[in-house]
Amino acid sequence: MDKLKILVLDDEKRYRDTLKEYLSDFEYEVYSAELPSVAFKIADKINIDIAIIDIRMPEMDGIAVLKKLKDQFPNIEVIMITGHGDMNSVIEALRHGASDYLTKPFRLPEIQAAIRRTKRFVELQNRFNSLQNQFSLISTELKEKFGSEIIGNSPEIIKVKELICRFAKTDNSAILITGESGTGKELVARGIHLLSSRKHNYFCAVNCNAVPENLFESEFFGHIKGSFTGAKEDRIGWFEQANKSTLFIDEIGELPNHLQVKLLRVLDDKKIRRIGSNKDIPIDVRIITATNKDIELETKKGNFRNDLYHRLNTFMINIPPLRERKEDIPILLEYFVSIFSQSIGKRCLSISPEVYARLNSYPFTGNVRELKNITERALILCDSTTLLPEHFMISDINKTTQTEPERRIFDLEQIEKNTIISALKATNNNKTHAAKLLNISWQLLHRKMRKFKIEIK
Ligand SMILES: Nc1ncnc2c1ncn2[C@@H]1O[C@H](COP(=O)(O)OP(=O)(O)OP(=O)(O)O)[C@@H](O)[C@H]1O
Ligand SMILES: [Mg+2]
Repeated sequence: MDKLKILVLDDEKRYRDTLKEYLSDFEYEVYSAELPSVAFKIADKINIDIAIIDIRMPEMDGIAVLKKLKDQFPNIEVIMITGHGDMNSVIEALRHGASDYLTKPFRLPEIQAAIRRTKRFVELQNRFNSLQNQFSLISTELKEKFGSEIIGNSPEIIKVKELICRFAKTDNSAILITGESGTGKELVARGIHLLSSRKHNYFCAVNCNAVPENLFESEFFGHIKGSFTGAKEDRIGWFEQANKSTLFIDEIGELPNHLQVKLLRVLDDKKIRRIGSNKDIPIDVRIITATNKDIELETKKGNFRNDLYHRLNTFMINIPPLRERKEDIPILLEYFVSIFSQSIGKRCLSISPEVYARLNSYPFTGNVRELKNITERALILCDSTTLLPEHFMISDINKTTQTEPERRIFDLEQIEKNTIISALKATNNNKTHAAKLLNISWQLLHRKMRKFKIEIK
């Protein structure tokens, strides 16, 4: 990789020289300028990556230089050097596109750390931009067929998207997707399918949890008439249905042991045999498996076959839980608000800052699915133009402390009561609809209404 090119702009010779000397010891090419006019001349000739600019200079103030530089050279990242305690300038600088700042006096390693942060940011940005192009091709289809695109710009999601692109090109390698419930495993599987050469064929999805134990083999392999009691006619199984396409096997951890052996054989031999038949049928299927279990642990415990695990984990994508990539929460929230405002037919709503704060400290055990659900509900419950924390029906775990148990219960009950009232209001007092909206049974809604003395007029 080319050396990083850094430009130092500071009217104080002492600072300029020290910085230049210090930074030249690293793998950087360093340029320095006393005046902004000189800095612009350098930027004209040399492809500068990062500029370090002092905010207070006689010829032109640092913020004006920052604005002009970003205008003319949008790819240059700027680190501002500000006076101690000058918070207003810091905010101003960040608003005008500075990627970092340091306050004078600073220690030299701090500048090195800021450069490294900026470099990482630029790399991430570049990776994100190159992915955007590839994913823009499939985002409409994902939205139409599965309700959403793959949203997020955390390093974790960028890595997931990069793996999707890479694996999509390896035409028939089997893939394993792991991650807690609601992290987007099926969404990722569909993404792989749509980016692959099989995209024009039907994406088949089967959930091992939904298949009765005694029907597994017939569901996957099919059978011929009379091969067992109840086999009234020939039937093709999932592998054949998904021929030339993608077969998504969800909850792979639930696959019975004897079928794990068979699946391994299908992966190796690329042919199947229907129950009761002695004819091999060649199949060309890309198999994507998923699980929300810790499959490595299950393998160690002997619940999942070692050989199948090793066959599958060569192409593995792990999606981290939402609480480990909190920077995705605001962008997901805004995305869901925009799609549900359209489908529910509500005007564009603003989101109060407390909502962001509250969601940021919420554990999201149900991951993105939970965020999606509570956002939809919030939009239905909201009858003003601003989304507020109470619309989200989650307790503020920061405010509730162990030392005030009574207050906590009271707070929670108040939230619960308000939520029920809002749901009834939103559904014109239709209890069945309100219960559905709240995701609770009709009977439970009645009990709660009695408890909180909620009456419908
Ligand atoms: N990164 C994301 N961007 C947008 N929507 C997402 C994202 N991740 C998940 N979702 C949405 O969250 C919901 C759950 O996703 P999905 O069904 O793929 O999760 P899952 O990991 O398969 O969950 P489970 O283990 O419960 O089957 C879907 O509606 C999906 O569209
Ligand atoms: Mg799923």
